Amino acid sequence: MPKSRSALAIVLAAGEGTRMKSDRPKALHEVAGRSMLANVLSSAVTAGVGRVAVIVGPGRDDVGAEARRSIADADIFVQSERLGTAHAVLAARAAIAEGCDDLLVLFADTPLVTAPTIGALRAALAGGAAVAVLGFWAANPFGYGRLLRDDAGRLVAIREEKDATDEERAVTLCNGGLMAIDGVEALRLLEKIDNKNAKGEFYLTDVVEFARAAGRETRVVIADETEVLGVNDRIQLAQAEALAQTRLRRAAMAGGATMIAPETVFLSADTVIGRDVTIEPHVVIGPGVEIADGAVIHAFSHLEGARVGERASVGPFARLRPGAALAEKAKVGNFVEIKNANVAPGAKVNHLSYIGDADIGANANIGAGTITCNYDGFLKYRTTIGENAFIGSNSSLVAPVTIGQGAYVGSGSVITKDVAPDALAVARGRQMEKAGWAVSFRMAQAAKKAKVE
Ligand code: UD1
Ligand code: CA
Repeated sequence: MPKSRSALAIVLAAGEGTRMKSDRPKALHEVAGRSMLANVLSSAVTAGVGRVAVIVGPGRDDVGAEARRSIADADIFVQSERLGTAHAVLAARAAIAEGCDDLLVLFADTPLVTAPTIGALRAALAGGAAVAVLGFWAANPFGYGRLLRDDAGRLVAIREEKDATDEERAVTLCNGGLMAIDGVEALRLLEKIDNKNAKGEFYLTDVVEFARAAGRETRVVIADETEVLGVNDRIQLAQAEALAQTRLRRAAMAGGATMIAPETVFLSADTVIGRDVTIEPHVVIGPGVEIADGAVIHAFSHLEGARVGERASVGPFARLRPGAALAEKAKVGNFVEIKNANVAPGAKVNHLSYIGDADIGANANIGAGTITCNYDGFLKYRTTIGENAFIGSNSSLVAPVTIGQGAYVGSGSVITKDVAPDALAVARGRQMEKAGWAVSFRMAQAAKKAKVE
């Protein structure tokens, strides 16, 4: 794509999504750990789109806010009445009037569109077309606009299902919905569109016929059906999720990660995975996770908002929550939860622990069952553990507290005060022993029992 061409993407997100049966607007339902809207915006940005306008329904500030979380300077326009796709696009009239080379129309409920495909639409405009439409061969064309071509195979019109003749309905080359329009001509073409059709809507698709009438070329860019999947209900949402997961797994493996059973590993759109990472079966990776080269994620682990350093090891059955940061060669083992905590190089938290709001120094060893008591019901407090410290099993560290470097904490301690470097702290009941006590106890009890019987 020549960098010199400017692009404005208009993302239609005013759909009510009735069939989702949801309190949430459709555009905010998630695929691969982020909203469908964010997925579409991300592909647009990757395709070099510099300006974005999002069309939302009345009172849908939440959709506008989500757009701005992805793109801070996105323009938000409200479509006050839902009068059709062309009407929706014209809600952004002010943005279109500012001018651009490529005007792209994208749907928030078509979340799987990729940047290369958006790039192909733009390339068609760069090649001289006034309109480029994303088409696909439909297994079942029902409900889609049909792409009508002349004998030379040139796109001449798009006919909506309800307006089509029987002959036109037999066409299986369908409109995926997304298109690119010559930005210089766009406003003039869009303003010609009326609502004299079966649905009484302003059809964006009519732009094709008007471009042809103006003597301009219109083109079809063919996409895979999976890329134009529209999400109208929760079943299609799950289909979109499955397709997105397949793509993410393939990208991770193509990037040098080993997955023993990729179909059981769930990733997020923003997951970053390095080379020679191994992800064992049944791992769930939520948003905001980075896994560096050579790390191993063992089976049944759950990660979200976490960073796993080079050659670190996680799980099996580990949970990394937001703010967990494992440095190089750190180890987090089974039934361990880490939240908002830094685990320095080579430190080990191997069994049955909760580490929250903490800093664990390099090569420290955190014994089985160690708990950082970070919360008093109102506020959270930090635990700091120095390098090479050794925390005995089943210890509670009542924060705020600092364990000095190289210090030892005796097993079963409840530590409420700071421990100096290289000291030993033991904070538990002292053991006492009475020789032969059990023998006399058993004799006395046996005698009591004999009397009762
Ligand atoms: C549209 C296309 C059809 C194509 C299909 C692909 C038109 C006229 N038809 O049909 O050729 O095969 O998509 O899925 O464009 N929207 C608004 N405001 C409106 C109307 C729609 O924001 O006033 C949004 C919807 O929320 C949706 C998108 O635009 O995200 C498409 O609208 P929809 O009504 O679903 O169009 P289709 O009838 O499916
Ligand atoms: Ca639709």
